[in-house]
Amino acid sequence: MSLYRLEALRSIRKILSLCELQPGDILAIYTDTGKSPALVEGFFGAALALELEPLMLTIPAPHRMLQEPSPPALLAMKGAKMVADLSSEQWLYTNGLNEILDSGGRVLQVLSTEHTLVKMTPTEALVQRAQRVAKMLTKAKEIRITSDNGTDVVANVEGRNGWGQDGIARVPGEWDSTPSSIFACAPIEGSVEGTLVVEPGDFVWTTPKEILVSEQMTIKLKKGRAAEIQGRADARMTGSWLASFGDPNSYVVAHTGFGGDPRASIDQAQEVESIEGCINFALGANIFRGLGGKNKAKSHLDIMLMKQSMFLDDECVVKDGKIVHPELAIGPIQ
Ligand SMILES: [Fe+2]
Repeated sequence: MSLYRLEALRSIRKILSLCELQPGDILAIYTDTGKSPALVEGFFGAALALELEPLMLTIPAPHRMLQEPSPPALLAMKGAKMVADLSSEQWLYTNGLNEILDSGGRVLQVLSTEHTLVKMTPTEALVQRAQRVAKMLTKAKEIRITSDNGTDVVANVEGRNGWGQDGIARVPGEWDSTPSSIFACAPIEGSVEGTLVVEPGDFVWTTPKEILVSEQMTIKLKKGRAAEIQGRADARMTGSWLASFGDPNSYVVAHTGFGGDPRASIDQAQEVESIEGCINFALGANIFRGLGGKNKAKSHLDIMLMKQSMFLDDECVVKDGKIVHPELAIGPIQ
């Protein structure tokens, strides 16, 4: 085993410890042939070291996102204390995932590489900040996004749960993705209006190949949907990726919020949404319980905006890509 694998093992062990699992707890490891064997072995090894009972479930690599787990795999996952989701394609917005959570299970998704796992291992300080942001988002009635370059978007979020993702799943029914630090809220369906100006340096998470935006793109939002995507090549690629699903619900606004980890960087797709002060704006499926959204769709597209501002009921939380709200300041995170 390489020394780097041992570092990843240490991070995985810390993550499972922060999840407060107890000796004898069953950890189902749901994976497929497309996943890094080092990560899979790392979770199995860390589970053994913590005296958990690991249970491996391996399927052929899925060829599309949001694939429902098979009934026997679902049954096994529902019987575990926690699922380490080491699938190579995300299935967050599926009925199967909600069934596991509704039955009291926990799911910890791992989309990242070993490198990101070691670099951004969750910490208690980040867990606490995520909880504070979730409360602020839950309290908010309206979210506004603005930028010097013409973004002005308003969303009604009254009554919607704020979501604070911190890379740790501690309680029954909880889902999280590790490592990550992402805060979000699902707007009331039909409520989002305005213009979103995506700038060079922003990021559009199409799969399997993401777009690092190099020319301005303008998205017109009407009645909660992306009604028009204007621009040059990046806009055309984004539009054709969405159209490829053949699903009108792919254009519905799914969530917005911001990232909170100062260690995250743009060179790894799985880190971008966690960049501290980076605003997320997603289109497509959002039926995940933690968001409370109602849109079922065949796709989910995250757009990450690096230098924009966010207001919760006119109170500024992010200014030009920096978290500025005093309640969200944190000290050293290690
Ligand atoms: Fe998203």
